[in-house]
Amino acid sequence: MGTYDFRNKVALVTGAASGIGFAAAKQFAEGGAWIVGVDRNAERMKSLLGALPKNGHPHLAIEKDLRSATAAQEVVPEAVELAGRLDIVVNAAGVCYFTKMQEISVEEFNEVFDVNVRALFLISVAAAEAMDPAKGGRIINLGSNAGRKGRAWSAHYAASKAAVKNITESLALSYGSKNIAVNTVCPGPTETPMWDTNFKGLKTLTGKEPQEFWDLWKKQTPLGRVGKPEDVANLICFLASEKGGFINGQEINVCGGFMLTS
Ligand SMILES: NC(=O)c1ccc[n+]([C@@H]2O[C@H](COP(=O)([O-])OP(=O)(O)OC[C@H]3O[C@@H](n4cnc5c(N)ncnc54)[C@H](O)[C@@H]3O)[C@@H](O)[C@H]2O)c1
Repeated sequence: MGTYDFRNKVALVTGAASGIGFAAAKQFAEGGAWIVGVDRNAERMKSLLGALPKNGHPHLAIEKDLRSATAAQEVVPEAVELAGRLDIVVNAAGVCYFTKMQEISVEEFNEVFDVNVRALFLISVAAAEAMDPAKGGRIINLGSNAGRKGRAWSAHYAASKAAVKNITESLALSYGSKNIAVNTVCPGPTETPMWDTNFKGLKTLTGKEPQEFWDLWKKQTPLGRVGKPEDVANLICFLASEKGGFINGQEINVCGGFMLTS
């Protein structure tokens, strides 16, 4: 049994094929939950979820490219059809780019907002409508330290994460009466595959190698290290657990104090 008891809970996790989404899915499964993963990388998601404790039933993998609004709208009906109900939703699918401001294309800008904001909104609303008020529900959205202030060369990403904060608050206000708590979790630099793409952009912009950034961020973090996906999953799972039940509409950093110095 994991740290928290998620037996008899269905947890839908987007971005379940990698990084923070997978770390959260793993902890939910270790606590007894039934996972419905959503990702465009279906092969990787199936293989990762297939290795988790089964809790009586195989975890489900829904392949969707969340750049499409139609695909995002299909997620919750398909999950409810397959799993019967939803108790927890984690919106962890996300994309990030570092690009010279004047070179951010309309396509890149739209992708960041379509996945990070529109899909998160559509899935959250559909899930909140589908959740049973008698049982209550939890929605946890992935924001970022970058959403709390601007970020050089990543205006679209920073703005998308600021939008996540506002959507989370609006959902918390709208669905509190349905016994649904909605919060934003804001990681600082966290070691996940997302940085493979990010470092390509940062190399073009600054000429620096990935290790130079990790070293800098480590120095900037009062606790002396960068984040691991499990650090973020710990907070997600706390918020989804019985113990986190009275926290609602909040934006919580999980960054070792990086936010204070960077
Ligand atoms: N890693 C960090 O340092 C960091 C910091 C702050 C916030 N975040 C946020 O945490 C969340 C998870 O990030 P991560 O670091 O685990 O990234 P990751 O790249 O490891 O995982 C993201 C997942 O989202 C999926 N995804 C991306 N676009 C998709 C699409 N169009 N349709 C369906 N799935 C799609 C990817 O396939 C991948 O499995 C993101 O919202 C990210 O913005 C990450």
